Amino acid sequence: MRLDQFIANCTELSRKEAKRAIGTGAVTVNGAVCRTANRKIPEDARVTLDGEPLILPGERYLMMNKPAGVVSATTDSEHPTALDLLPPGLSRDLHIAGRLDLDTTGLLLLTTDGQWSHRVTSPRTDCPKTYRVTLGEPLTDVAEQALVTGVVLRNEERETRPAKVRRVNDTVIELTISEGRYHQVKRMLAAVGNHVKALHRIRVGDIALDPQLAPGEYRALTGQEIASVSQG
Ligand code: URA
Repeated sequence: MRLDQFIANCTELSRKEAKRAIGTGAVTVNGAVCRTANRKIPEDARVTLDGEPLILPGERYLMMNKPAGVVSATTDSEHPTALDLLPPGLSRDLHIAGRLDLDTTGLLLLTTDGQWSHRVTSPRTDCPKTYRVTLGEPLTDVAEQALVTGVVLRNEERETRPAKVRRVNDTVIELTISEGRYHQVKRMLAAVGNHVKALHRIRVGDIALDPQLAPGEYRALTGQEIASVSQG
């Protein structure tokens, strides 16, 4: 899309007024001033006008590298929330598609699209989540096998669904699960006599945490990432 069109779509400005604003240097694209009204920009470009981020109307889809100490909720009286890390215009109407604990870091998805987030979180959709888990003790072969086939969590009766384990080293594994029970990863490790020292989500379905994102940073999902969930 042309930059002047992008601005006209996001604001009340006409194309002509948008061109004029671009000419004055009031517009940045991905952090740099742009004075070229006919520059072609992707829909997920970060555009600002007079320092204010512009957002195309329609549904929004973001990924964030959640830092520890930030709550996966829209409001909280004690801690900052993931939405507090976003500019107000961007956070409006967003909700979190699959929460993480206060001390868990990594890939957090935020969207305005309720159907899409339902597909991310519903156990009926096969949308596996992968966590890098730092363990208190080296993982035994018996424990690994139990995680893979299914374990019974404390105060529950039904076994967890089959999971995948990839050993990174003695005390770090990548665990892929396709359910989202309460504190599931921590409780799975407790069920096999181990415990979690650190938990970091690296992937949800086909969406991988962007290595460019420092803790607290976010970006728009690409069309392909959004569609990867829709296609189940
Ligand atoms: N499992 C947990 O125990 N905690 C999380 O934050 C996510 C999965």
